[in-house]
Amino acid sequence: PFDWYAEMREDRPVRYDDDRRCWDVFRYDDVDRILDDPETFSSDPRLASAIDLPPEEEQSPILETMLTTDGDRHDRLRGVVEDWFRPRAIAERAGRFEAIAADLLDDAIDGGRMDLVDDFAYPFPVIVIAELLGVPSEDRPQFRRWSETLVETPTDTSDDAMEAFQRRQQQASEELADYFEAKLDARAREPRDDLISVIAEAAGADRLTGEEALGFCMLLLVAGNITTTNLVGNAMRCLTAHPEAMERVRTGDVAMESTIEEVLRYRSPVQALARVATRDVELRGMDIEEGDTVVPWLGAANRDPSVFESPEQFRVDRAPNPHFGFGRGTHYCLGAPLARMEARIGLRALFDRAADIRRVGEQLQPVRSAFIYGVEEFPIEFRP
Ligand code: HEM
Repeated sequence: PFDWYAEMREDRPVRYDDDRRCWDVFRYDDVDRILDDPETFSSDPRLASAIDLPPEEEQSPILETMLTTDGDRHDRLRGVVEDWFRPRAIAERAGRFEAIAADLLDDAIDGGRMDLVDDFAYPFPVIVIAELLGVPSEDRPQFRRWSETLVETPTDTSDDAMEAFQRRQQQASEELADYFEAKLDARAREPRDDLISVIAEAAGADRLTGEEALGFCMLLLVAGNITTTNLVGNAMRCLTAHPEAMERVRTGDVAMESTIEEVLRYRSPVQALARVATRDVELRGMDIEEGDTVVPWLGAANRDPSVFESPEQFRVDRAPNPHFGFGRGTHYCLGAPLARMEARIGLRALFDRAADIRRVGEQLQPVRSAFIYGVEEFPIEFRP
């Protein structure tokens, strides 16, 4: 998409797309302005005039979360788990995450060849979040299917395909809801050191409604999986394309931290967000009306030459690097410290076990999603 972004940033930085019935926004300053003003640009898709949502009783609890609410309600919801996700709290669990990474890689690595996504980048964050939530290992394969279905976006927009797609999503969402409902009940009676217990406790103390508690579990499950998978996958895609940079990272000549930030900028796992205008508003001379959907393209802003020097270059030591990979403002990614740590631990664990990592095969299959950026598979070769 990057050539397209460059063209749009230059020629049509704010434009209306008749097919998708939304505004697209490409420049850094404009994206910043949108994310910085949640009163005007709301995260609640129910305010959109272009979207026909199913009737209330059929709506997924995922609409009752911090991600899709604003103002006091957003802050109340986010407050329930904020402490859990702080860098220091997350760091205390590093040892456990290292053990999970080691297990996965030790299984995958002996042949000198693996699929980085299937064998590692996919299962790693699923297991981490399942553990944090308090989901036992025998339920994980089912989790993988649910979370995949829930983040899928339709590529075939014919009526039949859309209908089948909506049915699939509806079913996955109901099954997952039943599962979490049972778990929340169990934890309300017998709390443990996990996130479901924190959520169950807040619900018990009337700080969350039942719907909200359920939405919470679903959000935490889906928000951090595909995104982190693609951060790890995109990181190796960048590094195998720049072997000299990989060597600098491996030897510690350049920090893992700045490398990961550059991947978040250069190949952002989340390329775009969606907002709804709550009033008529002008943006770069364009008249946006109340109820219009507005799409800030993070991936385009992250390569805006007015902010980033040589934005089309991948520079592992780029500093400063004020990218939008985790968004900005009140909805700034809650899981950012966790995602950063997973990426650090994952890449380090891989470098500890594999040398001369090379990409094999020419064709890469992009992830089937309009907003998520990454590849379905990434076969690599290396010296164990
Ligand atoms: C929000 C990206 C990992 C949980 C966001 C947003 C972005 C993002 C761009 C802003 C959404 C918006 O403004 O509408 C990413 C990326 C990740 C990642 C690129 C991995 C590389 C995670 C993880 C978790 C998580 C591991 C938790 C387990 C959340 C939550 C929100 C969020 C709960 C909503 C925050 C709010 O609305 O206040 N993420 N995320 N994310 N992320 Fe992440």
